[in-house]
Amino acid sequence: MTSFALRMMQNPAFSQIYETLWRPVFTRGFSLGGSATADYDRALRAYLARPGDRQVLDMACGPGNYSADAAHGLTGAGRYTGIDFSAAMLARAGTDNRTDRVSFVRGDAHRLPFPDDSFHTVLCLAALYLIPDPLPVLDEMVRVCAPGGEMIVFTSAQTSVAALPGARTLAELSGLRLFSVDEIVDRFADLRTEHIEQSITGVGQYVHARKPRASQHH
Ligand SMILES: C[S@@+](CC[C@H](N)C(=O)[O-])C[C@H]1O[C@@H](n2cnc3c(N)ncnc32)[C@H](O)[C@@H]1O
Repeated sequence: MTSFALRMMQNPAFSQIYETLWRPVFTRGFSLGGSATADYDRALRAYLARPGDRQVLDMACGPGNYSADAAHGLTGAGRYTGIDFSAAMLARAGTDNRTDRVSFVRGDAHRLPFPDDSFHTVLCLAALYLIPDPLPVLDEMVRVCAPGGEMIVFTSAQTSVAALPGARTLAELSGLRLFSVDEIVDRFADLRTEHIEQSITGVGQYVHARKPRASQHH
């Protein structure tokens, strides 16, 4: 069943208010009772904007909320590619991020139209909790990530904060999945990625992992 939140993402009107209203409020919501997701978000943006000649893939990029930061420091042949299955979100993304280094593709995070080992940085931010059958999306991240490359996920985490009155009901009503604290990290470990780091922020989690230089995931 498609969740309410996922259906909203297909709506052109929603894609316009997403960046300015929904996403900032939502990011604060993830900090519920814990360290501020907004601080991590700022740190992530600065990290993404660092200089470098790299290929960046932003899975379920939405309206391109991170495109400008991720493209900012790119040098040489460096390119940013955003992929999303919502035409409305991509239309918005294309309008806001017109540079030679940035492109957007319509497609499904479960079946990325890219060869193995293509990208140095693979992002999947604020999307996994909306996607039915989300764990295979991590497999796709690892597949398209180049040996030695990095993967960065931001999603929900079922911490003790999620036990606060109303938190679970709110998540369920909006169709957001609450991942157990180990679920994402365990999948990355099963996929033989390295240097897996997890930061919990309230009911959110950031996970960073690297694909080994000598590819071992097959
Ligand atoms: C909440 S938005 C997040 C956008 C952006 N990554 C951000 O952090 O602001 C979630 C996005 O996931 C996209 N999405 C959901 N399921 C998808 C799938 N299977 N493949 C590609 N995109 C998907 C939706 O269309 C929506 O644009």
